[in-house]
Amino acid sequence: MGKTYQIGVVPGDGTGPEVVAEGLKVLEAVAHKSGIQYDLVHYDFGGERYLRTGETLPDSAIKEFTQLDAVYLGAIGHPDVKPGILEKGILLNLRFALDLYINLRPVKLYPGIATPLKDKGPEEIDFIVVRENTEGLYAGSGGFLKKGTPDEIAVQESINTRKGVERCLRYAYEFCQTRNTRKKLTLCGKTNVLTYAFDLWERVFQELGDDYPDVERDYAHVDAICMWMVKNPEWFDVIVTDNMFGDIITDLGAMIQGGMGVAAGGNINPQGTAIFEPIGGSAPKYTGKNLINPLAAIMAGHMMLNFIGEAEAADIVEKAVKKTIANHLKSMEAGKMGIGTREIGDLVVKYI
Ligand code: IPM
Ligand code: MN
Repeated sequence: MGKTYQIGVVPGDGTGPEVVAEGLKVLEAVAHKSGIQYDLVHYDFGGERYLRTGETLPDSAIKEFTQLDAVYLGAIGHPDVKPGILEKGILLNLRFALDLYINLRPVKLYPGIATPLKDKGPEEIDFIVVRENTEGLYAGSGGFLKKGTPDEIAVQESINTRKGVERCLRYAYEFCQTRNTRKKLTLCGKTNVLTYAFDLWERVFQELGDDYPDVERDYAHVDAICMWMVKNPEWFDVIVTDNMFGDIITDLGAMIQGGMGVAAGGNINPQGTAIFEPIGGSAPKYTGKNLINPLAAIMAGHMMLNFIGEAEAADIVEKAVKKTIANHLKSMEAGKMGIGTREIGDLVVKYI
């Protein structure tokens, strides 16, 4: 008998619990088919708990998470909680405390999904973004001087450590080597203006590149990347970038792959645990209406299976999702799919 995986589940806020329920249904079906054993450990972190108890994330949770094989997260964000509290207290806290230094975000258009890009299809839109997830402008370095006065100064610094940059780039090179046969790694930076931060990124990118002679090295400024993601998305295979640029370009990526309804991501420590999530947020206005698209959460489950080493099961899920899209979905947008949240989960299970 194989191992029993320990999977943490954080359904979170808004539509999070609904989409996680469908994801777990799919996980159960594929585990049954593939003979995978797992235990689920449920956590109620999110806006509701914060409003009830004033606590975002207890320290004990961080310790427990390090013992898990992976965590499956719905969405964090509550209309009654001031912006920043849950984001910093839960999402960013977990990324830093668990040192989840990679944020992996596929941008892949599946057949049958509409993209806003004219004349582009699944052949052209299939790349992945490796976003550094623990440094840069997100590191929280900076502060105010003379706050609230006419002489006020606000400083927000981008922290880029040699270690942090190197481990992210190395992950991207290695990922690029095995992803497919294209083996093209694009560094997304801003070397013409951010002449310290991206000087470091560019130097390490070139240095490490010698260790991966089969990977083609490519560089583009972040503004140009935004343009080309729209005009020539087929140019990209793997894009590696810092935290802030990665945040921005992956929202653009989500749109060209058909919207937040399908976009999934993973916050990963390659030597430790990882958190997989639909990247769309809690979408409070759709809560409890069976209108939200669960495919992003289901695809987050697919990424989680890959991460824990169950690539075959991950493949089965992806194929079932493709069939569901091709045969049943009118649109990827909440409320316009033609069928409901639960029905989509049922169809994926049926195809598994
Ligand atoms: C994301 C989100 C987060 C980020 C927010 C909610 C803190 O936008 O996961 O991309 O900026 O990283
Ligand atoms: Mn974002």
